[in-house]
Amino acid sequence: KILILDFGSQYTQLIARRVRELNVYCEIHPFNKIPAIDASVRGVILSGSPFSVRDAQAPTPDLSAIKGKLPLLGVCYGAQFLASAFGGEVQPAPSREYGRAMLTVGDASDALMRGLPARTQVWMSHGDTITRVPDNYELIASTEDVRVAAFHVGGEQTWGIQFHPEVYHSTDGTQLLKNFVVDICGCGQSWTSEGFVEATVRELREKLGDDKVVLALSGGVDSSVAAVLLHKAIGKNLYCVFVDSGLLRKNEFGEVLESYKHMGLNVKGVNASAKFLGDLAGVTDPERKRKIIGRDFVEVFNEEAIQIKDVKWLAQGTIYPDVIESCSVNGPSATIKSHHNVGGLPEKMNLKIVEPLRLLFKDEVRRVGRSMGISEQLIGRHPFPGPGLAIRILGDITPEKVEILQNVDKIYIDSLRAAGLYDQVWQAGAVLLPVKSVGVMGDERTYESCVALRAVTSTDGMTADWVHLPYEFLANVSNDIINKVKGVNRVVYDISSKPPATIEWE
Ligand code: XMP
Repeated sequence: KILILDFGSQYTQLIARRVRELNVYCEIHPFNKIPAIDASVRGVILSGSPFSVRDAQAPTPDLSAIKGKLPLLGVCYGAQFLASAFGGEVQPAPSREYGRAMLTVGDASDALMRGLPARTQVWMSHGDTITRVPDNYELIASTEDVRVAAFHVGGEQTWGIQFHPEVYHSTDGTQLLKNFVVDICGCGQSWTSEGFVEATVRELREKLGDDKVVLALSGGVDSSVAAVLLHKAIGKNLYCVFVDSGLLRKNEFGEVLESYKHMGLNVKGVNASAKFLGDLAGVTDPERKRKIIGRDFVEVFNEEAIQIKDVKWLAQGTIYPDVIESCSVNGPSATIKSHHNVGGLPEKMNLKIVEPLRLLFKDEVRRVGRSMGISEQLIGRHPFPGPGLAIRILGDITPEKVEILQNVDKIYIDSLRAAGLYDQVWQAGAVLLPVKSVGVMGDERTYESCVALRAVTSTDGMTADWVHLPYEFLANVSNDIINKVKGVNRVVYDISSKPPATIEWE
């Protein structure tokens, strides 16, 4: 495997994904918590950083177990650190270098540069520049503005590059990373979905033996893939619970439950809509809605779990971005998402936690799911928030409003699918506004509700842009909704990006 030491760059995860795309396994660790370097580690990559090496609080890793002993590649800050900490010099660049640059390869015979064209586009993002390298460092590439764009440390398997090979705009970045992880580090390209499934099933069998495991299915990709993987390993000892909060999309509970059963999962569907809707009656504050739903969910799930005799494990669909300890600018900090569906249960019932996807990125979860034969319908689903339609009904929630929104949402989503737009959109949904407006239908005045449609592109939900859906499409959907859904006489389209807006309205 490859270790990636994180200095807090926004691109660290991207390096890991590029390495994984080469079917090489890698892990991200904070620079000040370097794990033991055993024989499984074939090479190390140092990430970029928001810091300058000249800052007093700049991260200074202890590389004594690494540098000169196994292949090492410094990227951006990583390269600057390798230069400045070993006798070179780093200065502020005359102007901040950001964006595309043309790299001229000086030494095409260098192992890191092999197969790259003599000139290739790279992506730069740095405020400092290396002005002098230590004596035994050899320059292997430059750009017009950056003399030390890449260096190789003489007599060592150590390299530094000022540009970002992991970024899409670095045209030959993947080739460079491949040169490093495959040719230089000697990693076999064996980290495939099939390999992952095989190894994970074996490990799960060993770990779980004949123990019983309970898992909450949500209808989403992560919990579904986790369930199928566990099912492959331990079969009927996996007990799945799928809760209907009454706040899912139209017909979703029945359809998804059917597809789970079809996949052979041992799943119990629990209809708890009356409890959720009852507890939510009259509640308008978004945060209170979330709290009530979270609490109800835990209660319903716990009640089911307690009935499974001798259950020992709780399985979760946690994925890698949730567990990476990343460095924030204020020093390394753990950014671990709390999963909303487990509260209290592990302690109360003395359950151990099993998370078969904790090493995978989202796109890898999808690939693993596909390789196990999960339907494209399920794998390609848009994200859907845990609190469901409750946070898309502004103001208080009633069964009538849920029904209206479900009908609107169904028309919208079905239309996206029919127009071939569904897969181009990261997430889409409709919002029922607490607004009535005047309209006219036939000869009659109407005074009815307004819905907003939302469609965004995103990669991780942290930032998002609204999708420029075709006017024709919007016109047809709007007509359809107003004509078919009683109680709605106006449709608007949300054209806000995140930030400053969020994806959900509550
Ligand atoms: P926001 O509205 O914060 O949403 O821009 C970002 C992404 O997160 C989803 N979301 C949630 N998912 N439980 C979830 O499982 C929640 O409480 C929750 N709130 C928002 C939202 O749908 C979007 O994909």
